Formats: sequence, C-alpha cells, structure tokens
Amino acid sequence: MVQIEELEQQVKALAEEGRERLEQAGSLEECEAVRVALLGRKGKITELFQLLPQLPPEARPEAGKLINTLKDQFQEALEQRLAALKAETIERRLQEEAVDVTLPGRPVALGRLHPSTQVLREIYRIFSGMGFQVFESPEIETDEHNFQLLNIPPDHPARDMWSTFYLVEPGLLLRTHTSPGQIHVMRKFAPEPIRAILPGKCYRYEQVTARSEMMFHQVEGLAIGRKITMADLKGVLTEFAHQMFGEGRRFRFRASYFPFTEPSLEMDMDCILCGGRGCRVCKHTGWVEILGAGMVHPQVLRNGGYDPQEFTGFAFGMGPERILMLKYNIDDIRLFFANDLRFLEQFSGGPR
Ligand code: DAH
Repeated sequence: MVQIEELEQQVKALAEEGRERLEQAGSLEECEAVRVALLGRKGKITELFQLLPQLPPEARPEAGKLINTLKDQFQEALEQRLAALKAETIERRLQEEAVDVTLPGRPVALGRLHPSTQVLREIYRIFSGMGFQVFESPEIETDEHNFQLLNIPPDHPARDMWSTFYLVEPGLLLRTHTSPGQIHVMRKFAPEPIRAILPGKCYRYEQVTARSEMMFHQVEGLAIGRKITMADLKGVLTEFAHQMFGEGRRFRFRASYFPFTEPSLEMDMDCILCGGRGCRVCKHTGWVEILGAGMVHPQVLRNGGYDPQEFTGFAFGMGPERILMLKYNIDDIRLFFANDLRFLEQFSGGPR
C-alpha cells in the first residue's frame, strides 16, 4: 500500500525536478529530452499514474488530481520554455545576420551599343533622310543569288575574291557580300521604283589578318527608277560621305570593275591621317577607298524583274567597320570582334 502523503512527496519532488531541468535546457533538443524523461512512455510522471491502484480507494481521486495537475503544469512550463528558446533563436539570428541597408549598392555595369551597331544606325539615319528604306536579306544564300544572278557564273575569275563557307546542303553558302539582297529586293518590288539599303553580316573564308576578318558587316544600297543616272549616284554618295565624315573632306570617283555594275567605280576620300599629302595608311597616294558602286548592270536588272530599256539604277556597297577604321584611324579590324572592353568602351556615344 502506498500512502497519499508519499505520493504528495513525489509529486512535489517531480515538480521541482521538472522546473529545474527545463530551466537548464538550452536548446529545443534538450527540452525534448526533458519531456521524454518526465512524460514519455516510461517517464517519471507517467509512471506515477501506475501507483494509483496501490493507493487506498478513497485516496485515489485526490491522488489522480494531484498527478494530473503536475502533468498540466509541467506541460505548460515546457511550452513556455520552448517559446522562450524560439524567441531567443530568432533574436540571435536577427543580430548575427543583420544587413546594413544603408550600405551603397554595387554599381550595375550598363551595356552599350557595339561600335558596328552605332555606325550602322548612323548610316540608316543618313540614308533614310534621302528616302531609303532598310531591308534585311538572308545570311545563308544560294549560289545563284550570291553569284550567278549577279553575273558571276561558276567559272568566273571574280569568285576568287569571294571564297566562302559552304553548307553541307549543296548550293547553299554564307553570303560573301550583301549584293544578293539586290535581287531579293528587286524581285519583291518590281516593277515599282526602289530606294533601299540592305545591311547585314557577310562571311569570307580567308586568313584572318589586321585587314580582313572572316565575318564583317556590309551595307548595300540600291536605287531603281526610270530616270536614274550616274549624277544621282554621285549626289547621293557625296551627301552620305559629307554627313558621315564631315564637310571638310574631299572625295573622288575612280573607274573600277564589279560584275554586277556597268560602269563600276570606287569612291575615295582624302586620307584623314595625312590630309592628302601621302603616308603609310594611304600607301602614299593621299586617297583611301571608302566604297564600291556603279550603275546596275542591265542583266542584273533583268534578273530582278526590270526591263533595262525602261529602268536604270545605281548600287553601292560599303563596310561599316572599314568606315570606322578610316574615321578613327583604327589599324586592326579584328579589334571589333575580339570583345576587349578597353577597345569597345571608347565608343560610348554615337559615331559622331
Ligand atoms: N559587293 C561588293 C563587294 O563585296 C561591293 C559592291 C561594289 C557592292 C559595287 C555594290 C556595288 O552594290 O555596286 O566587294
């Protein structure tokens, strides 16, 4: 037989033990260990209930109440301790991981337009002022468009200048110039008059050197109409060159040869570096070439769907990278695509 007084003693002792152990528990895991020790299946409080049958029957209700109260109080104390520990943890993390929101931010590096894009936009601006629209034509071309329809049959020696990359699929290649765009734009608009420029990337399979890249840009120009003459060609290109390079420069037109124009010419500018006196850059001639041009060959007009008895036109082709090189005396075309920011960042504004 167990007496109620004895039980009271044990309840008191366990209440004390629970309080002390919870106080000492420094973490959620330690609290859990205390809970198991007192309230687990073999916990000390749980075991007290097993004493009940050994008490005199009349003392049992009182004893049950005592143990239940002990259990409730312990549970409440446990919850309080857990809450306190959680709050402490949060407080500690808030302090340890505090962020100083007043620190200055990291600067964001702003991108800017590539110099080739800048000069392309300048070219669009100048030609759109003279009524030219911008068209795009494919970078992957057929042999027919890149060569044959431009009067360059398979055995033509001019092909030597335009060695390129061929696709696995027969008859397809990466265009060597933007001139095939002339055929596309003519076939789209014939027999309407045309004023268009065709910008884009071109490819050539050649040794990459300071003077030649395997990829570069060109801008093709084409004007077709009923009364277009060489005077229009000279007027438009001179106006362009003045806007692009400045009013003070001198230009000249020199006879040349391209299979798709007749007559053909090249436009030269007085050498920026020596002012025309002659230097290494202009090979001591005082002049540098800026573009190729000519009156559209009658056969090319026919290939595009125009009757050469009724229509004439002029065409030109220029390299934006070459224009930048002349303008800023850059001696290596590879700089444009080497992605060296020290070079690219010098073109922060527009090209003018
Ligand atoms: N397609 C020529 C080249 O890549 C450049 C050119 C010359 C284009 C004369 C023209 C032109 O439209 O009339 O060298």
